[in-house]
Amino acid sequence: MLNVALPKGRLGEKVYDMFEKAGFECPSIKENNRKLIFENEEVGVRYFWVKPSDVAIYVERGAADIGVAGKDILLEYEPEIYELLDLDLGKCRMAVAAKSDFRDNPQKTLRVATKFTNIAQQYYLSKGRDIDIIHLNGSIEIAPILDLSDVIVDIVETGTTLKENNLEVFETIVPISARLIANKSSYKFKSEQINKIKDEISSLLEA
Ligand code: PRP
Repeated sequence: MLNVALPKGRLGEKVYDMFEKAGFECPSIKENNRKLIFENEEVGVRYFWVKPSDVAIYVERGAADIGVAGKDILLEYEPEIYELLDLDLGKCRMAVAAKSDFRDNPQKTLRVATKFTNIAQQYYLSKGRDIDIIHLNGSIEIAPILDLSDVIVDIVETGTTLKENNLEVFETIVPISARLIANKSSYKFKSEQINKIKDEISSLLEA
C-alpha cells in the first residue's frame, strides 16, 4: 500500500483529480463526510488529507510515502525529501509588498513581517540587506498598514488581497507551485510504484 498525503482544501481536490486520472482512483474519497483516510486496496493506494503546510512533515518522516506540497513550504522548511515533479497547480509567487508610498532607506534596518521567515532571511541575506524579522501567523497584510513593519514577504496569487489593503508588490522573490514529493527511503523501496505515479502524472501534464 502506498501512503499519499494530500493537502486538504481546494488545491487538494485538484491534486486528487490528477491522481485519479493517472489511474490511482479511490472513489470513497468523494463521499461527503469528515473522514480523513481513504484507501483502495485494488490499486494499492491510501490517501489522507492533511493541512497543506503539514504534508512535507508526513513525507519527511515516512508516515506518507509521497505527497503534494507547495514550493513555499519546501523552501521555508527545507525538509529532507525528494522533489519529483512540478504539478503546475496552485501557481502563485512569493513577493515583497508594501504601501505604495514606501521608499526603502538603505541606512535603516528594514522591518519585514512574514510567515516565511527562512525565505525572507535568505532573500535579504543574498542582497546583503539588514532586516528585522517579525514572524506573524496570518493577516500579514495588516502589518505595514499599522506600521508594525515596512514590508511584508507573502504569497501573492491574484493580487486581490494586496489591492484591497492598498499594498503593492515591490519585488518577486520566487514563483511557487505544487510539487510531488517523496520520502527518501520509500523512493528506494517502493520506487516502482512511485515512479509509475510520477510517470503517469507527468504524461498527463504533457498532454
Ligand atoms: C494567502 C496570502 C494572501 C493571499 C493572497 O493566504 O497570505 O493573504 O493568499 O492571495 P491573492 O493574491 O489571490 O489575494 P491564504 O489564503 O493562503 O491563507 P493564510 O492566511 O492562511 O496564509
